[in-house]
Amino acid sequence: MKAIVFTKYGPPDVLQFQEVEKPTPKNNEALIRVRAATVTAGDCEIRGFRIPILFWLPARIIFGLTKPRRPILGQELAGDVEAVGKDVTQVKVGDQVFATTGAGLGAYAEYKCLPEGRALAIKPINMTYEEAATVPTGGLVALHFLRKANIQSGEKVLINGASGSIGAYAVQLAKHLGTEVTGVDSAEKLGMLREIGADQVIDYTQEDFTKSGETYDVIFDVAAKSSYSRSAGSLKRDGRYISTTPGLSQMVRGLWTSMTSRKKVTTGLASEGTKNLVFLKELIEAGKIRSVIDRSYPLEQTAEAHKYVEKGLKKGNVVITVGND
Ligand SMILES: NC(=O)c1ccc[n+]([C@@H]2O[C@H](COP(=O)([O-])OP(=O)(O)OC[C@H]3O[C@@H](n4cnc5c(N)ncnc54)[C@H](OP(=O)(O)O)[C@@H]3O)[C@@H](O)[C@H]2O)c1
Repeated sequence: MKAIVFTKYGPPDVLQFQEVEKPTPKNNEALIRVRAATVTAGDCEIRGFRIPILFWLPARIIFGLTKPRRPILGQELAGDVEAVGKDVTQVKVGDQVFATTGAGLGAYAEYKCLPEGRALAIKPINMTYEEAATVPTGGLVALHFLRKANIQSGEKVLINGASGSIGAYAVQLAKHLGTEVTGVDSAEKLGMLREIGADQVIDYTQEDFTKSGETYDVIFDVAAKSSYSRSAGSLKRDGRYISTTPGLSQMVRGLWTSMTSRKKVTTGLASEGTKNLVFLKELIEAGKIRSVIDRSYPLEQTAEAHKYVEKGLKKGNVVITVGND
């Protein structure tokens, strides 16, 4: 099969279009003919091994100490089930599915074997493969952290880095939960944020939300580029601060904030789960959330897609199409 392979950590050009062996499903796995995958910020971080210090060693052990142990990147996909192992019961040959590949990666390929049960579900009927491929990472991470924040209808939620893969789903999920949403990102992305439901938008290049005097029930910091202490100062008394990408000092100070005040700080890795993916599928089919696709590249141009994502221009998601002539 054709795949994008990287044998060393580095810039986008380490990604090579190659012929590799087609995988065979184990008893508990489905073999998926991949139709679409995505390039996320996380893929670029693993490719270049730009991992926060806190996660550096565990990530190096998982992804490879001196060179990539998992030479095919890609954390989410949509495609068709082509074969199933004998113990697979929840999907069958011919099903159109979407899934996260988790730390196993491997979506930049024509085929991928995935166990059922982790986060593999029938794709929403009202989404193309390209649209569905954007849901499993951004959607599941946004859902995980918004649930951790125990968001209540009527609360004020600020999402910092709101136009990215996670942020665009977080905005829509927070709106669905009945909150008033402020989205923070760069100027050219603010129109899209309004389109997907943000009540207020802030251009971070012009205005620092931590200096406005406004306070929020929840600050979901996806970008992790703002001052932690000033962000915590923009929380209401019982406010919750969520970070997908905490630095070490932020973790320590967050713990201190949680111990010494009524504010709560939540970080860590998001959980996956087929149940959560099905929950998102139902919201999508009910028209409550949708995907935002900036542009698509064919599999062989994945290195170009990585270069584009690293420019920081993408609105929502960048998709890789596989096997679509
Ligand atoms: N904890 C977990 O389980 C977990 C899971 C998945 C991903 N992550 C991590 O979460 C992070 C975000 O992922 P993503 O896929 O959503 O990234 P993304 O698609 O690149 O989105 C990040 C957004 O933040 C914006 N931004 C950059 N600097 C900003 C600033 N100072 N203030 C406000 N917004 C700013 C970017 O816009 P501009 O480029 O225009 O500045 C971009 O729109 C990544 O580091 C990823 O590794 C964590």
